[in-house]
Amino acid sequence: MTASEGRLVGDLAKAIDESDFAWSLVLVGEDQRDKLAALTSDLLGKPSTTGDGKQITSGYAYWGIGPTIAWAHACADPFYLVMKQSLDSFTRRWSRVRGKVGSGFHHVSFGVGTGHKDRLVLDHLLDHNPDLLYVPVDMSSEMLRLGTQQATHGLRVRGHRVVPVQLDFSIPENLAEFRDLVHRMVGDEPVLYSLLGNTMANFDHDAELLAGLTGLVRPQDLFLLEVATTDALSDELAQDAVEEYARSRAYREFATSALMHNTDLTITLDAVQFRGAVEGDRALKVKVVYQNGTGGDIMMMLPDRTRVPFPDRDTIRLYLTRKYARKALDGVVGAAGMRKVVGTHSDFPVPRSAQGFGMDLLLLAPGGPDEPATSGSGSRARDIWEH
Ligand SMILES: C[S@@+](CC[C@H](N)C(=O)[O-])C[C@H]1O[C@@H](n2cnc3c(N)ncnc32)[C@H](O)[C@@H]1O
Repeated sequence: MTASEGRLVGDLAKAIDESDFAWSLVLVGEDQRDKLAALTSDLLGKPSTTGDGKQITSGYAYWGIGPTIAWAHACADPFYLVMKQSLDSFTRRWSRVRGKVGSGFHHVSFGVGTGHKDRLVLDHLLDHNPDLLYVPVDMSSEMLRLGTQQATHGLRVRGHRVVPVQLDFSIPENLAEFRDLVHRMVGDEPVLYSLLGNTMANFDHDAELLAGLTGLVRPQDLFLLEVATTDALSDELAQDAVEEYARSRAYREFATSALMHNTDLTITLDAVQFRGAVEGDRALKVKVVYQNGTGGDIMMMLPDRTRVPFPDRDTIRLYLTRKYARKALDGVVGAAGMRKVVGTHSDFPVPRSAQGFGMDLLLLAPGGPDEPATSGSGSRARDIWEH
């Protein structure tokens, strides 16, 4: 970088820091037209009554201002218990693990959401590193703006030490570029990465996603993972998991928001259905689908203005989530080349529902249980980065 380029970046940072106007700088990693094309193509899937054809994949459910606002509303809904309890109990769970995070850490947050949890993490990290860099990553620029403001509000973090990045972190090529960017920004200083709010559960290939993200972790770094958990697996419990989502109208409004903003369908909340199942020996899985229950075929317009049939009984999968079997967690973590440094569990007293649902917060370091922490990430993560 030339001296004048260096001055430009410095001047911009200074101007933002000194302004009363709420400027935010965002690094945009991808062409948003490509994202729209991908969303369109996901809505072209074959007919399926079980949510296995047309779909809105994880990041797209939150993409844009409408879904962002709907998500913030859902998080505040007392009937959307998973998220409400996750937010309410985070302070307690974080206070039990944060002692293991040493000083000098920067923070990279995958999936910022409303930013409430990041704020608690930053508050602690700033005590030990006042000059820390905060890098929230999200597919939704609107979510980044909302979440970053909440995360940094009232904290001593200076504007130019906040670098929001708009990026789809489920794409391995994006992660490879992002890894270079982060490592160049922080040098050898340690980073606490986080994936909170059961975000991992939203991906079809959740194990690959986690391995991709933990592939950024170097021996000096740590990774904070929050997942929804269940003590046992059964069809009955899968139905109880369904109930948790089905109760909240605000959650249904959020789940249909991307569909409302990207198609010309007239949305009725009654068409939102929840299908629960046991996923092998690892999780309870809940699919949220939108089913054409009108009794006739509908034509649906997509973002590129093509019109496609949405036949009677056909579904669009709106959301995917899971509750992981607590016994399976070590395996999930180990497959991503990580080991647990410390973990905490909160049980959720869910009315009319099964006992044993809760939230686990795990602080992870690189290396399997038999591998020393300094030897880097394990097999799966290594495979991803080396090929
Ligand atoms: C379930 S919310 C969790 C928010 C927050 N971490 C919390 O615990 O409250 C998931 C967040 O991840 C973002 N997200 C989901 N899939 C993504 C993807 N593929 N790439 C980037 N961001 C994604 C969403 O926009 C949203 O902000």
